[in-house]
Amino acid sequence: MKSTYILLVLLGQFLAAQACSAQDNKTDDPFIARPYLQIGHTPSTETLQLLWHAPDASTDWAVDYQPKANGPWKKTALPTWVRVDVAGIEPHRVYEATLTGLTPGSRFNYRVLKAGKVVFTAEGQASKKADQLYRFVAFADIGAETPAQKKLASRAYLAKPDFVVVPGDIVYERGLISEYRSRFWPIYNANQVDTAGAPLLRSVPMIVAPGNHDTDTRDLDKYPDALAYYYYWKQPLNGITGTEGGPLIPTMTASVDNRKAFLEAAGEAYLKMANYSFDYGNAHWTVIDSNPYVDFTDKGLQEWIAADLARAQNATWRFVMFHHPGFNSAREHYEQQHTRLLSPIFEAGNVDVVFTGHVHNYQRSFPLTFVPDKKGVLLVSSMGAKMARGRVVNDQWALDKSFNGTTNTKPKGIIYLVTGAGGQTLYNPEQNNDPDSWQRFTDKFFSNVHSLTVADVNGKTLSIRQIDVNGKEIDSFTITK
Ligand SMILES: [Fe+2]
Repeated sequence: MKSTYILLVLLGQFLAAQACSAQDNKTDDPFIARPYLQIGHTPSTETLQLLWHAPDASTDWAVDYQPKANGPWKKTALPTWVRVDVAGIEPHRVYEATLTGLTPGSRFNYRVLKAGKVVFTAEGQASKKADQLYRFVAFADIGAETPAQKKLASRAYLAKPDFVVVPGDIVYERGLISEYRSRFWPIYNANQVDTAGAPLLRSVPMIVAPGNHDTDTRDLDKYPDALAYYYYWKQPLNGITGTEGGPLIPTMTASVDNRKAFLEAAGEAYLKMANYSFDYGNAHWTVIDSNPYVDFTDKGLQEWIAADLARAQNATWRFVMFHHPGFNSAREHYEQQHTRLLSPIFEAGNVDVVFTGHVHNYQRSFPLTFVPDKKGVLLVSSMGAKMARGRVVNDQWALDKSFNGTTNTKPKGIIYLVTGAGGQTLYNPEQNNDPDSWQRFTDKFFSNVHSLTVADVNGKTLSIRQIDVNGKEIDSFTITK
């Protein structure tokens, strides 16, 4: 009897120990957001930034990597960190390490160590040089925690892109830290590839433009963890610097404490990371904050875009990315045409393709040139409201209907893409097979399926495919120089 009792006690202790160790394993994950690659403030083919989020505690973090395949491992300089300590969120740190001496376009192994113990390993890839082939994926309106978003995350990963661009609406509904945690990091930086997500962010950099759901919420007293865009993305700060309350950046509502917490975590990104540009391979990218709070008649903004494109004339390709499409045939958001005001600047700067989102479907315009009728008509969301909704911009456009992307691959004009079917509920599926409901500038329109854009650049040939969530190609076209 006594021996049975002892056995039971031992069994009980064994089970308790097992439960404890299972719990330890669960809490063993030292990350709030697992490591992800970024192009950083000054992108190059030899460097990348590695970021991760962890609790606010002094911890001995280190990053090892193999800059050359099968070569020796080396350590990065000591990771730096910024504390994010805003109301309603447990204080945490955004860590950053710089990987240097990478071989352009090559894959490399890296690992993150905490107190000398390896807690994360992954394979990344350095950015490509101008003479290398490359592929990128574009999709917008993504972080909605839908089954389609998760499946497209896997499709994006399996397409093996060299980088990913997101033309806005990265995280719904308000770009909050809490929303990134449930709707973004676990899906785009999952540990495995399946219908729940993929390890995309640890493998290649993602480059993002701010959408309305990312940076429109600026009442920090109501939403103290809003504007996470400025905490978590490391992108160039080489664009036009804004002033709060000026034509590019609206006034924030924030108590002294909330403002201080925001500014300490956001740093200089706050006034500088809304508009920026970078080179990748043989292309130049101009990224613009297209939110209606921006005054697109502002000379400073227009001059920066023009100058940025003028500097990029030696690049083979010039791409522009922003959220709000000027040329949109969907009934949803049709009236938000304010970015049409920039078309003459894009044309003068020899832009090839404009990537947008906001409208949750896929649309391709004919190659077009456009002359806006003055400044258009400003829309406000309601009587007496200060916040603009955009502008209706009347127009004179010239369409190149001879371009077909197969036998004629030399467009006369800019092709405007809407790739907003990246996860959020689709808009206007009823217009899918109804060309009568499309504007004259629209060539292709798919609104009944979620999809992403896969672009291959091979020197002077650009091939673009639109792939739906089931893997079916719904559009493709080629441009050559
Ligand atoms: Fe949007």
